[in-house]
Amino acid sequence: MRMPDASNLVYVLNGPNLNLLGTREPEIYGHDTLDDIAGMLEERGRELGLEIDLRQSNHEGHLVDWIQEAASRGARAVIINAAGLTHTSVVLHDTIKGVKTPVIEVHLSNPQRRESFRHHSYIGSAARGTIVGFGALGYRLALDAAATF
Ligand code: DQA
Repeated sequence: MRMPDASNLVYVLNGPNLNLLGTREPEIYGHDTLDDIAGMLEERGRELGLEIDLRQSNHEGHLVDWIQEAASRGARAVIINAAGLTHTSVVLHDTIKGVKTPVIEVHLSNPQRRESFRHHSYIGSAARGTIVGFGALGYRLALDAAATF
């Protein structure tokens, strides 16, 4: 069976607690909800000829499965905000290293300006690139980058 062409498909994966965006520490993460971000990305995606598949989970294993799924489907790129898992997850590091699909790390805040336990990223050393500190705009910048792959 032929797989549908996913070369214009970008997965946008979001980790724990990002379902609470909009009400979660808005002074740090802003007032945009994940639905707002999805809408913004779909609009930009239409301009770029890219399709967006935005997902969120509070469970590490779902993120692993989705990265592997993106790779096996031949998706253009994965944009990931791994949230708190950024600072703990060897598993996500290994998953990203294990696929050929380019992965872009995004954070709404700039972790380097925050508590020291946020300074290390297990995602960053496996990702193609990282965008931090620009709030929801960072996702759009990442999508613009994915359009060049
Ligand atoms: C975050 C930064 C992480 O340190 C934090 O645990 C998050 C959100 C960000 O987008 O700024 O949950 O990934």
